[in-house]
Amino acid sequence: MRPGRAEYEIEAELQYEFRRHGAQAPAYTPIVAGGANACILHYVQNDGVLKDGDLVLIDAGCELDGYASDLTRTFPVSGKFSGPQKDIYELVLAAQMAAISAVKPGNAWSAPHEAAVKVLTQGLLDLGLLAGSVDQAAESEAYRKFYMHRTGHWLGLDVHDAGDYKREGRWRPLEPGMVLTVEPGCYIRAGAGVPEHFANIGVRIEDDVLVTASGNEILTGEAPKRIAEIEDLMRSQDD
Ligand code: GLY
Ligand code: MN
Ligand code: MN
Repeated sequence: MRPGRAEYEIEAELQYEFRRHGAQAPAYTPIVAGGANACILHYVQNDGVLKDGDLVLIDAGCELDGYASDLTRTFPVSGKFSGPQKDIYELVLAAQMAAISAVKPGNAWSAPHEAAVKVLTQGLLDLGLLAGSVDQAAESEAYRKFYMHRTGHWLGLDVHDAGDYKREGRWRPLEPGMVLTVEPGCYIRAGAGVPEHFANIGVRIEDDVLVTASGNEILTGEAPKRIAEIEDLMRSQDD
Protein backbone atom coordinates (compact mmCIF):
# COMPACT_ATOMS: atom_id res chain seq x y z
CA MET A 1 0.00 0.00 0.00
CA ARG A 2 1.30 3.43 -0.93
CA PRO A 3 0.04 6.77 -2.25
CA GLY A 4 -0.81 6.61 -5.96
CA ARG A 5 -1.90 3.01 -5.86
CA ALA A 6 -5.50 2.31 -6.90
CA GLU A 7 -7.94 0.73 -4.47
CA TYR A 8 -8.51 -2.13 -6.97
CA GLU A 9 -4.82 -3.02 -6.80
CA ILE A 10 -5.25 -3.77 -3.09
CA GLU A 11 -8.47 -5.65 -3.87
CA ALA A 12 -6.58 -7.75 -6.43
CA GLU A 13 -3.88 -8.59 -3.88
CA LEU A 14 -6.56 -9.77 -1.44
CA GLN A 15 -8.21 -11.98 -4.05
CA TYR A 16 -4.83 -13.40 -5.01
CA GLU A 17 -3.93 -14.22 -1.40
CA PHE A 18 -7.33 -15.79 -0.73
CA ARG A 19 -6.97 -18.19 -3.66
CA ARG A 20 -3.29 -18.82 -3.10
CA HIS A 21 -4.08 -19.99 0.44
CA GLY A 22 -6.82 -22.37 -0.66
CA ALA A 23 -9.99 -20.33 -0.24
CA GLN A 24 -12.61 -21.09 -2.87
CA ALA A 25 -14.00 -17.58 -3.18
CA PRO A 26 -14.31 -14.20 -1.52
CA ALA A 27 -17.18 -14.24 1.01
CA TYR A 28 -18.41 -10.92 -0.48
CA THR A 29 -17.04 -8.19 -2.73
CA PRO A 30 -14.11 -6.66 -0.85
CA ILE A 31 -14.37 -3.02 0.17
CA VAL A 32 -11.16 -1.02 -0.29
CA ALA A 33 -12.11 2.56 0.52
CA GLY A 34 -9.56 5.37 0.70
CA GLY A 35 -10.24 8.76 2.31
CA ALA A 36 -13.82 10.01 1.89
CA ASN A 37 -14.82 6.70 0.23
CA ALA A 38 -14.63 5.08 3.66
CA CYS A 39 -17.66 7.16 4.66
CA ILE A 40 -19.77 5.44 1.97
CA LEU A 41 -21.18 2.23 3.46
CA HIS A 42 -21.01 -0.75 1.10
CA TYR A 43 -18.59 1.11 -1.20
CA VAL A 44 -17.45 -1.51 -3.73
CA GLN A 45 -16.31 0.52 -6.76
CA ASN A 46 -12.73 0.31 -5.48
CA ASP A 47 -11.55 2.55 -8.31
CA GLY A 48 -10.21 5.52 -6.34
CA VAL A 49 -6.54 6.36 -5.93
CA LEU A 50 -4.98 6.19 -2.46
CA LYS A 51 -3.68 9.52 -1.25
CA ASP A 52 -0.91 10.49 1.13
CA GLY A 53 -2.41 11.38 4.51
CA ASP A 54 -5.65 9.44 3.98
CA LEU A 55 -6.86 6.34 5.75
CA VAL A 56 -7.97 3.29 3.83
CA LEU A 57 -10.69 1.02 5.14
CA ILE A 58 -10.40 -2.60 4.01
CA ASP A 59 -13.34 -4.94 4.64
CA ALA A 60 -12.64 -8.35 3.13
CA GLY A 61 -13.11 -12.02 3.88
CA CYS A 62 -12.90 -15.30 2.05
CA GLU A 63 -14.98 -18.44 1.97
CA LEU A 64 -13.13 -21.56 3.01
CA ASP A 65 -14.74 -25.01 2.81
CA GLY A 66 -18.19 -23.43 2.98
CA TYR A 67 -17.54 -21.00 5.83
CA ALA A 68 -17.37 -17.23 5.49
CA SER A 69 -15.05 -14.80 7.25
CA ASP A 70 -15.60 -11.06 7.51
CA LEU A 71 -12.81 -8.76 8.66
CA THR A 72 -12.20 -5.02 8.59
CA ARG A 73 -9.05 -3.06 9.36
CA THR A 74 -8.32 0.60 8.73
CA PHE A 75 -4.79 1.66 7.79
CA PRO A 76 -3.03 4.98 7.13
CA VAL A 77 -2.01 4.99 3.45
CA SER A 78 1.43 6.41 4.21
CA GLY A 79 2.02 4.35 7.34
CA LYS A 80 1.34 6.87 10.12
CA PHE A 81 -1.94 8.06 11.62
CA SER A 82 -2.45 11.83 11.97
CA GLY A 83 -3.62 13.22 15.35
CA PRO A 84 -7.32 13.44 14.45
CA GLN A 85 -7.20 10.03 12.72
CA LYS A 86 -5.70 8.59 15.91
CA ASP A 87 -8.46 10.15 18.02
CA ILE A 88 -11.18 8.55 15.92
CA TYR A 89 -9.34 5.25 15.56
CA GLU A 90 -8.74 4.90 19.31
CA LEU A 91 -12.39 5.68 19.95
CA VAL A 92 -13.61 3.00 17.54
CA LEU A 93 -11.12 0.52 18.98
CA ALA A 94 -12.30 1.25 22.54
CA ALA A 95 -15.90 0.78 21.37
CA GLN A 96 -14.97 -2.49 19.69
CA MET A 97 -13.17 -3.84 22.76
CA ALA A 98 -16.13 -2.90 24.98
CA ALA A 99 -18.46 -4.65 22.54
CA ILE A 100 -16.29 -7.78 22.43
CA SER A 101 -16.25 -7.87 26.25
CA ALA A 102 -20.04 -8.02 26.12
CA VAL A 103 -19.94 -11.19 24.00
CA LYS A 104 -20.60 -13.95 26.53
CA PRO A 105 -23.22 -16.61 27.12
CA GLY A 106 -26.44 -15.28 28.60
CA ASN A 107 -25.91 -11.71 27.40
CA ALA A 108 -28.54 -10.48 24.99
CA TRP A 109 -27.73 -10.17 21.29
CA SER A 110 -28.02 -6.40 21.72
CA ALA A 111 -25.40 -6.16 24.53
CA PRO A 112 -22.34 -5.67 22.27
CA HIS A 113 -24.14 -2.96 20.26
CA GLU A 114 -25.20 -1.14 23.41
CA ALA A 115 -21.67 -1.31 24.81
CA ALA A 116 -20.22 0.11 21.57
CA VAL A 117 -22.78 2.92 21.39
CA LYS A 118 -22.08 3.97 24.97
CA VAL A 119 -18.35 4.31 24.33
CA LEU A 120 -18.86 6.04 20.97
CA THR A 121 -21.36 8.53 22.38
CA GLN A 122 -19.06 9.53 25.24
CA GLY A 123 -16.07 9.77 22.90
CA LEU A 124 -17.90 11.89 20.31
CA LEU A 125 -18.94 14.26 23.10
CA ASP A 126 -15.36 14.43 24.41
CA LEU A 127 -14.06 15.23 20.91
CA GLY A 128 -16.67 17.95 20.45
CA LEU A 129 -18.39 16.14 17.58
CA LEU A 130 -21.60 15.92 19.59
CA ALA A 131 -23.00 18.42 22.06
CA GLY A 132 -25.05 18.10 25.25
CA SER A 133 -24.97 15.56 28.07
CA VAL A 134 -24.31 11.84 27.65
CA ASP A 135 -27.89 11.08 28.65
CA GLN A 136 -29.33 13.53 26.11
CA ALA A 137 -27.01 12.26 23.37
CA ALA A 138 -27.84 8.63 24.19
CA GLU A 139 -31.58 9.36 24.34
CA SER A 140 -31.63 11.16 20.98
CA GLU A 141 -29.32 8.55 19.39
CA ALA A 142 -27.18 11.47 18.21
CA TYR A 143 -24.32 9.06 17.51
CA ARG A 144 -26.22 7.85 14.45
CA LYS A 145 -24.93 10.83 12.48
CA PHE A 146 -21.51 9.13 12.62
CA TYR A 147 -22.40 5.48 13.29
CA MET A 148 -25.40 4.41 11.26
CA HIS A 149 -25.21 0.62 11.24
CA ARG A 150 -25.50 -2.14 13.82
CA THR A 151 -22.48 -3.61 15.58
CA GLY A 152 -22.65 -7.07 14.04
CA HIS A 153 -24.46 -10.01 12.49
CA TRP A 154 -24.39 -13.80 12.62
CA LEU A 155 -21.56 -15.33 10.64
CA GLY A 156 -21.30 -18.88 9.29
CA LEU A 157 -22.12 -20.55 6.01
CA ASP A 158 -23.06 -17.09 4.74
CA VAL A 159 -21.46 -13.78 5.61
CA HIS A 160 -24.74 -12.41 6.95
CA ASP A 161 -25.80 -15.80 8.19
CA ALA A 162 -29.32 -17.07 8.71
CA GLY A 163 -30.76 -16.95 12.21
CA ASP A 164 -33.12 -14.89 14.35
CA TYR A 165 -31.89 -11.92 16.32
CA LYS A 166 -35.11 -11.73 18.32
CA ARG A 167 -37.48 -14.42 19.53
CA GLU A 168 -40.93 -13.56 20.82
CA GLY A 169 -40.02 -9.90 20.70
CA ARG A 170 -36.85 -10.23 22.81
CA TRP A 171 -33.20 -10.16 21.78
CA ARG A 172 -31.84 -13.70 21.84
CA PRO A 173 -29.36 -14.63 24.53
CA LEU A 174 -25.90 -15.53 23.25
CA GLU A 175 -25.02 -19.23 23.50
CA PRO A 176 -21.71 -21.09 23.24
CA GLY A 177 -21.00 -22.02 19.62
CA MET A 178 -22.60 -18.93 18.10
CA VAL A 179 -20.35 -16.82 15.86
CA LEU A 180 -20.94 -13.14 15.23
CA THR A 181 -19.08 -10.14 13.93
CA VAL A 182 -18.23 -7.13 16.10
CA GLU A 183 -17.76 -4.12 13.85
CA PRO A 184 -18.33 -0.65 15.19
CA GLY A 185 -17.25 2.29 13.06
CA CYS A 186 -17.23 6.05 12.83
CA TYR A 187 -17.77 7.84 9.52
CA ILE A 188 -17.31 11.59 9.44
CA ARG A 189 -18.39 13.25 6.22
CA ALA A 190 -17.25 16.77 5.47
CA GLY A 191 -19.62 19.65 6.33
CA ALA A 192 -22.56 19.80 8.71
CA GLY A 193 -20.66 21.50 11.49
CA VAL A 194 -17.81 19.00 11.52
CA PRO A 195 -14.39 20.52 12.25
CA GLU A 196 -12.28 20.29 9.10
CA HIS A 197 -9.56 18.14 10.68
CA PHE A 198 -12.07 15.35 11.27
CA ALA A 199 -13.63 15.52 7.79
CA ASN A 200 -13.52 12.40 5.60
CA ILE A 201 -12.22 10.13 8.33
CA GLY A 202 -13.92 6.75 8.13
CA VAL A 203 -12.88 3.95 10.47
CA ARG A 204 -14.30 0.49 11.04
CA ILE A 205 -12.72 -2.35 12.99
CA GLU A 206 -14.34 -5.75 12.55
CA ASP A 207 -13.55 -9.10 14.11
CA ASP A 208 -15.23 -12.49 14.04
CA VAL A 209 -16.07 -13.68 17.53
CA LEU A 210 -17.06 -17.13 18.81
CA VAL A 211 -19.17 -17.36 21.96
CA THR A 212 -17.51 -19.90 24.29
CA ALA A 213 -18.67 -21.46 27.56
CA SER A 214 -16.78 -18.86 29.58
CA GLY A 215 -16.85 -15.81 27.30
CA ASN A 216 -15.53 -15.50 23.79
CA GLU A 217 -12.71 -16.23 21.42
CA ILE A 218 -11.70 -13.73 18.74
CA LEU A 219 -11.21 -15.87 15.64
CA THR A 220 -9.57 -13.01 13.73
CA GLY A 221 -7.44 -11.90 16.66
CA GLU A 222 -4.14 -12.31 14.86
CA ALA A 223 -4.84 -9.42 12.50
CA PRO A 224 -3.15 -6.39 14.09
CA LYS A 225 -5.44 -3.59 15.21
CA ARG A 226 -3.57 -1.46 17.76
CA ILE A 227 -2.13 1.74 16.29
CA ALA A 228 1.45 0.83 17.22
CA GLU A 229 1.06 -2.65 15.67
CA ILE A 230 -0.33 -1.23 12.45
CA GLU A 231 2.35 1.45 12.16
CA ASP A 232 5.06 -1.20 12.84
CA LEU A 233 3.56 -3.46 10.18
CA MET A 234 3.50 -0.63 7.65
CA ARG A 235 7.11 0.29 8.45
CA SER A 236 8.24 -3.30 8.03
CA GLN A 237 6.78 -3.29 4.48
CA ASP A 238 9.20 -0.51 3.54
CA ASP A 239 12.30 -2.49 4.57
N1 GLY B 1 -18.62 -7.08 4.82
C1 GLY B 1 -19.98 -6.98 5.15
C2 GLY B 1 -20.18 -6.67 6.55
O1 GLY B 1 -19.26 -6.31 7.26
O2 GLY B 1 -21.25 -6.84 7.09
MN1 MN C 1 -19.68 -7.77 8.86
MN1 MN D 1 -17.24 -6.74 6.87
